[in-house]
Amino acid sequence: MSGIFPVLRTEEFTLRELTNSDLEAISSIWGSPKVTEELGRGPFSHDESVQMLYVLRSLWENDAGIRWGVEREGKLIGTCGFHNMNNSAKRGELGYELGYEFWGRGLMRKALRPVCDYGFNIMRFERIEAFLNLDNERSSALLKKLGFEMEGVLRDYAPTTKGLIDQICFSLLKRDWKAQ
Ligand SMILES: CC(C)(COP(=O)(O)OP(=O)(O)OC[C@H]1O[C@@H](n2cnc3c(N)ncnc32)[C@H](O)[C@@H]1OP(=O)(O)O)[C@@H](O)C(=O)NCCC(=O)NCCS
Repeated sequence: MSGIFPVLRTEEFTLRELTNSDLEAISSIWGSPKVTEELGRGPFSHDESVQMLYVLRSLWENDAGIRWGVEREGKLIGTCGFHNMNNSAKRGELGYELGYEFWGRGLMRKALRPVCDYGFNIMRFERIEAFLNLDNERSSALLKKLGFEMEGVLRDYAPTTKGLIDQICFSLLKRDWKAQ
């Protein structure tokens, strides 16, 4: 999968490779308690943002997934992409986050359309899944609007600083995406 990083463009967004010069924007996004509380933890320190940027960039370099930087009007406003892929099962997990100042405008929903297209058509997924904390209502609404279905609650599924917590599993199948 590695090679030339695929840039995806829409009228509104450029989805492109993250670089080390995105650190300031990434720190601002992940340093917001509003963003991280949806993920069940406190805001990232500068060092944690450095580590997160490294992890997100490494996905593509290690053939373990892909994470695009979502650029709008020349500014990095969030990131999204796939990780935890299972090639034989033709599935991948969707992850995303948007800087808090950009919430409430449906921006990530729009940015995820070309990402799901890419997942189904280029990465050949048959299934895209996403795991959310139970109280992540915005994300749940966003996924439903994209056509994801809620499958159920996974008990004690995700490690957090407070121990293991339940998560909701959502999925979108290629046949349902095609039919939209
Ligand atoms: C998930 C995220 C990208 C959504 O961003 P957003 O800009 O708020 O998304 P939208 O504007 O599309 O809003 C999503 C929906 O939530 C609804 N919503 C808004 N505020 C809400 C609230 N307080 N409670 C519940 N739903 C709410 C909106 O009405 C919208 O539904 P609609 O389109 O039917 O009106 C953003 O909240 C985020 O970055 N969260 C942290 C990261 C995260 O949770 N990632 C997912 C796990 S991988």
